[in-house]
Amino acid sequence: QNNVKVAVCGASGGIGQPLSLLLKQSPLVTQLHLYDIVHTPGVAADLSHIDTPAVVRGFNGADNLDAALKDAQVVIIPAGVPRKPGMTRDDLFNTNAGVVRDIAAAISRNCPKALVGIITNPVNSCVPIASEVLKKAGCYDANRIFGVSTLDIVRACAFIGEAAGHNPLDVTIPVIGGHSGVTIIPLLSNCKPAVNFPESQVKQLSERIQEAGTEVVKAKAGAGSATLSMAYAGARFALSLVRAIKGEKNIIECAYVRSNVTEATYFSTPLRLGPNGIEENLGLPKLNAFEQGLLKAAIPELKTNIKKGEEFVLKN
Ligand code: APR
Repeated sequence: QNNVKVAVCGASGGIGQPLSLLLKQSPLVTQLHLYDIVHTPGVAADLSHIDTPAVVRGFNGADNLDAALKDAQVVIIPAGVPRKPGMTRDDLFNTNAGVVRDIAAAISRNCPKALVGIITNPVNSCVPIASEVLKKAGCYDANRIFGVSTLDIVRACAFIGEAAGHNPLDVTIPVIGGHSGVTIIPLLSNCKPAVNFPESQVKQLSERIQEAGTEVVKAKAGAGSATLSMAYAGARFALSLVRAIKGEKNIIECAYVRSNVTEATYFSTPLRLGPNGIEENLGLPKLNAFEQGLLKAAIPELKTNIKKGEEFVLKN
């Protein structure tokens, strides 16, 4: 598989632009389709001047969504609105749920076999939304739809590397569960190289990983949420999908997917990826007592988030 077409939906945004830059920079991508409701001609023209092989095309406005997605093998979705002051979680949910629903419907028409990575928040609800839409269209394959939770892992490696005095690039750690607040379950007991922090530091690091998104929202003081780190994590996940499509073996990533590992019907665990998406769900790593407690707190919240997504599709 030498030719890989990647589509980015929401390519003109705070996440979409740096994510598209990182994908353009990769020699693994041959065609890069940029879709947004605004500014794609400019973003595409700008990126197309970079001397890497990927051919970049911009698709502007809803009328061009189908053309943007036609035969894409990987679709990454950072479209939507980030949370701003004065906005309730419900405002964010209603707007972004509709955006993801419409893009998922277009995926069913134009690239039903694509591997899809959803970045749009709330990820815990948006993955069930896309799944229900694809089910309705008769082309749902649970192995192909992913919530991108890679940023939780990237953050865990950065924070633990800093605290333990390791190069963060040498740290690996599974972060399981969902992609917001208490649903994020970092498994420090599974960290490699092993870390031996006192209990209070494990608790403090785990909470920092769970609340890292809020740390950025506060620091940006009204200008939005994480964009650059999310773009880095989104590109890493998208390129793992591309490498899997190209036949590379033993690619392992955690992502939020349809799951029967716990009582929550969507859940992030380590996955082995292949050309058709999930090749094997590697299941729950061994949890210590503290991590069991985190899991217990996460499940009811996840179930509520999942139900909210599924009900949105039923009602709309
Ligand atoms: N179709 C395509 N693109 C859309 C649509 C739509 N229906 N609605 C909005 N967009 C585009 C906007 O035009 C904008 O270019 O999505 C982009 C979003 O960019 P920003 O507003 O800068 O938001 P960003 O910080 O990138 O976050 C986007 O990702 O992590 C999540 O919580 C975050 O849900 C938010 C999303």
